[in-house]
Amino acid sequence: MRFIVLFVLFMHIVLADEASYNRGEMLFFAKSCSSCHGPAAEGTSSYPRLANKKSAYLEKKLIDFRIGKAQSVSQQMMVQFAEKLSDKNINDLVYFLSHHKREKVEDIDDAYLGGVGS
Ligand code: HEC
Repeated sequence: MRFIVLFVLFMHIVLADEASYNRGEMLFFAKSCSSCHGPAAEGTSSYPRLANKKSAYLEKKLIDFRIGKAQSVSQQMMVQFAEKLSDKNINDLVYFLSHHKREKVEDIDDAYLGGVGS
C-alpha cells in the first residue's frame, strides 16, 4: 500500500515536470523568444544562449526584465517581451530552458513552429 502511494506521488511529480517542460517549449516559440535566441535556445552572435543555464539565473533575469530592470541598452530590448509574462509563464519557460534537451531543430514538433519550421 505504502509503495503504491509513493509510486503515485512520484508519477505525479514526473508528469507535472513534463507538462511544465512542454508548456515552456510552446511559450518559447509562441512568444517569439526563438526568433532571437535561436530555435534550440542555442543563441546567436548577437543574442545569448539560454539552453541549460541555471534556473535561478534565468528566473532572476526574467523577473528583472519584467519590471524594467536592464543593465544595458541591449538588455533593454528584453523588457517588452518579459513584460507580458505571468509568473506561471516564467516558471514554465525557466523549467524548459534549464532542462533543455538540446533537440536538433528538425526534431522539434512542427506544431510548435506553427507549421513554418523544419
Ligand atoms: C528581439 C530579440 C529578443 C527576443 C524576441 C527575446 N529576447 Fe531574450 N534577450 C535579448 C537580448 C538582446 C538580451 C540581452 C543580451 C545582453 O545581456 O546583452 C536577452 C537576454 C535574455 C535573457 C538573459 C540571458 C543571459 O544569459 O543573461 C533571458 C533569460 C532571455 N533573454 C529570455 C527570453 C525569453 C524567455 C524570451 C521570450 C519571452 C526572449 N528572451 C525574447 C533579445 C531577445
